[in-house]
Amino acid sequence: MLHIEGLHTFYGHVHALRGISLNVEEGEIVTLIGSNGAGKTTLLNTISGIVPAASGTIEFLGKNITTLPSDQIVKSGISQAPEGRRIFPRSSVQDNLEMGAYTRNDKNIKADIEAMMERFPILKERRNQMAGTLSGGEQQMLAIARALLSRPKLLLLDEPSLGLMPTLVQSIFKLIQEIRNDGVSILLVEQNARKALAIADRAYVLETGVIVLEGSAKELRESDQVRKVYLGEK
Ligand SMILES: Nc1ncnc2c1ncn2[C@@H]1O[C@H](COP(=O)(O)OP(=O)(O)OP(=O)(O)O)[C@@H](O)[C@H]1O
Ligand SMILES: [Mg+2]
Repeated sequence: MLHIEGLHTFYGHVHALRGISLNVEEGEIVTLIGSNGAGKTTLLNTISGIVPAASGTIEFLGKNITTLPSDQIVKSGISQAPEGRRIFPRSSVQDNLEMGAYTRNDKNIKADIEAMMERFPILKERRNQMAGTLSGGEQQMLAIARALLSRPKLLLLDEPSLGLMPTLVQSIFKLIQEIRNDGVSILLVEQNARKALAIADRAYVLETGVIVLEGSAKELRESDQVRKVYLGEK
C-alpha cells in the first residue's frame, strides 16, 4: 500500500535520506530500526509531507503523494503520531482529540471520539484537563488516539514507547497489535528493537540515511549485525 523508491531528503546541506526504498503492504506491521540520527523521524516526516522530498517517489494506494501538502496526505489515509508526543499542551484532551479529526467532515466524529474515550479510559477521566499536564505515558496515549481519529489506513508511529515504564511499554505494544487487527497498517519506528521485532511482520534497518538490511522480522532478529548492534547480544 505504501511504496517508496529512491527517496532523498536534505536539511540544507545535510543529506539525511540517501535513496530510501521501502514498502508497507496492507495489514502489515513494518518496523524501522536505527540509531540516533539515522534518519527515522526524517523518513516519517517526509512521508507525512512535513519535510519535502528532494527526489524519489512515495506512492500510497497507487497514488503519487510525494509532493502533496500534509493535510492532503492525512486525507488520503496516512496519519502520524509524532515523536515527543507533540500534542497541543494548552488545549484540553477533548480538544486535542477533535483536532485529530480536522480533515474529516462526516457525521461520525463525535461517536469516534467517545469510542476513543472508551478505549483509553484515562483520556475519558482527563477529558477536560490541559493536555500538557498529562503524564508522559498519558500524552503518548493521547497522541496515538488523536492520530487514529483521522481514520487512517496507515499509521506512522515514531518511538511510541520512548520514556515509558515497562508495564506501559507492554500496553503500547499490545495496543499497536490491536490497531493492526482493526485493519490499520503500521510503520513503527522504535529504539526498542527487541519489542518491535517481536510484533512486526517485516523490518528495515536504517544507518545514516541508507537502508542497510531488510527482511522478515524473524530474519532480522537472527541476523548477527542486528543482534550485536541493536539487541546488545554477542
Ligand atoms: N530540522 C533539521 N535541520 C537540520 N538537520 C536536521 C533536522 N532534523 C534532523 N536533522 C538531521 O538529520 C539527521 C537525521 O535526523 P532524524 O531526526 O531523522 O534521526 P532519527 O533517526 O529520528 O534519530 P533519533 O533516534 O535520535 O530520533 C540527523 O543527523 C539530524 O541532525
Ligand atoms: Mg527520531
